[in-house]
Amino acid sequence: MKKVLLIALGLAVVVAAAAIYYTRSPGAKPAAAQKLTIHFTCDTSGRLEPCGCFTGQHGGLTRLMTWLEARPERHDTLMVDVGGALAGVNDYDLIQYRYLARGYQEMGFEALNMGAAEAAIPAKTIASLSSTSAVPLVSASLVDATTRKEILDPYRIVEKGGRRIGILGVVSPTSVTDPGEGLAVLSLDEAIGRHLPALREKTDLIVLLAFAKEAELRRLARDYYELALILGGDVGGPAQDMIRENDSIVLYTTNEARTVGTLTATLDGQPRTRLLDPVYEITLLEESIPQHVDLQELVREFRDEIRSTPLAVDDPDAVDPSAIPGVQPPATYVGSATCQSCHPKAYETWEKSGHGHAFETLEKKGSDADPHCIQCHTVGFGRPSGYRRPFGKEKLVDVGCESCHGPASEHVAHFRDGKKTAFKFRPVGPGDCVTCHHGEFSRPFDWDKFWPLIEHGKE
Ligand code: HEC
Ligand code: HEC
Ligand code: HEC
Ligand code: HEC
Repeated sequence: MKKVLLIALGLAVVVAAAAIYYTRSPGAKPAAAQKLTIHFTCDTSGRLEPCGCFTGQHGGLTRLMTWLEARPERHDTLMVDVGGALAGVNDYDLIQYRYLARGYQEMGFEALNMGAAEAAIPAKTIASLSSTSAVPLVSASLVDATTRKEILDPYRIVEKGGRRIGILGVVSPTSVTDPGEGLAVLSLDEAIGRHLPALREKTDLIVLLAFAKEAELRRLARDYYELALILGGDVGGPAQDMIRENDSIVLYTTNEARTVGTLTATLDGQPRTRLLDPVYEITLLEESIPQHVDLQELVREFRDEIRSTPLAVDDPDAVDPSAIPGVQPPATYVGSATCQSCHPKAYETWEKSGHGHAFETLEKKGSDADPHCIQCHTVGFGRPSGYRRPFGKEKLVDVGCESCHGPASEHVAHFRDGKKTAFKFRPVGPGDCVTCHHGEFSRPFDWDKFWPLIEHGKE
């Protein structure tokens, strides 16, 4: 029985090897036309899941996975990210990137390109991101500032639909304002030019992942006929329609993992394979799409790791960029409970409001140790004397009085202890609200609607 199985297995290997040899050998007949679907994302900005700051939020990798699994494709698919998956340059952003890469791996992505966010971190850190990434990172643009050698693999070659597809990654220097330490960003032409001859040789079709502006994407399509598909980019919104320049197709998306671009085409043509009869769609990952349980599990793992890992922000005195050595800020945070005795009405209003329970909200989600969240759900996080992990200064949890009015130790010392001080709170108004109530983190902010719900101070 075992022997039969072994022989069968051996035969299968021979047949498979022959098939690969057949499609690869030069001069062989081209493989039959096959369909290919390409899904691409860009600018995920750390959004493993939607933050949940209001109901009705779109997007998140958690939804992308559910959506991808429900797709009816019966042919090969290729999935790639054009860059900007990283949320920022902090240690906790880098930890999160590992989970993003794992999420992309679970979905079956083949390559993650480096965008502007990734190009802002040091060369050494990029190398370590790559060593821990579950999906290959590619970049032909990011080079060592002294040796001018690539830090990552510039491209990947994968087999899809019987064709060899080259995935080349670039980021435009115009998109990178301040490259990370030890990094240089090659011009688009140098980055592409270095590898195009080899790729032309080794592949049937080339897909360029280009974190670059729309005009640059179009220009590349005009200048490099070999690039069958150019995916971007550093853009204001997703491409609504397919753009054709020369023989190339240009598509792009953005929007913090709220949208995914999809191109389905037939692989055919001589001497190089082209994408024939292309159909493009852009999908908004709506709230109605359930979040995938596997990725929610990954999010939980991320939260656990973040909770148990010491981070630079845990000592804000050490990291505050505006701090002048030896000079203490005049006022420090004292906590909302201190205000209660002299401002009982304001306190009562505040305690009943959402602001008075903002930390509890995070605890319920298990996000109460994640700096991505606590910066807006506590008092003075990341500033000297402000809220610190892990959970030391309980009095500085929630959106407290001092989240809006600023540190109040001097004010209290004046009125309670009779200390002579010239301290005055700065005026507070709508401009302070939108430091937290913006973008993905709030329903559209409207002072006339929001202020009456927390109104206080005139009593
Ligand atoms: C930029 C500031 C900011 C950040 C960062 C932030 N939040 Fe919020 N969050 C808010 C604001 C503002 C609201 C209230 C929004 C509103 O009322 O429309 C809110 C509300 C919430 C709510 C309550 C929603 C409801 O319907 O009652 C949850 C839950 C929440 N945030 C979770 C998170 C999590 C989890 C993170 C981190 C991934 C996070 N927040 C990061 C500002 C922020
Ligand atoms: C010992 C009593 C006392 C405590 C404690 C106290 N205050 Fe006051 N506060 C006052 C008095 C009295 C005034 C009115 C001063 C005036 O009218 O000039 C005032 C005025 C204010 C004002 C408006 C005037 C200004 O300077 O802009 C704000 C805002 C304020 N307090 C915030 C707070 C906050 C926040 C806390 C807690 C961190 C707090 N106060 C704690 C006594 C106190
Ligand atoms: C430090 C960040 C921050 C600032 C500044 C801020 N908010 Fe909020 N706001 C939040 C968070 C977080 C929540 C959600 C609290 C929760 O439900 O957990 C929230 C919720 C609210 C809500 C809904 C909850 C309720 O009680 O009805 C209103 C209204 C609101 N904020 C108004 C304002 C106004 C007006 C300002 C400016 C004067 C302001 N906020 C400034 C973070 C902030
Ligand atoms: C979400 C932001 C926010 C929070 C939290 C908040 N305040 Fe205020 N507070 C304001 C704003 C904005 C005004 C000014 C409103 C105006 O100009 O009409 C104000 C006004 C006041 C005033 C009157 C100021 C004056 O010039 O007369 C006092 C006193 C005050 N707040 C105390 C407190 C205390 C005490 C707490 C906590 C229990 C608190 N506030 C929490 C935003 C906030």
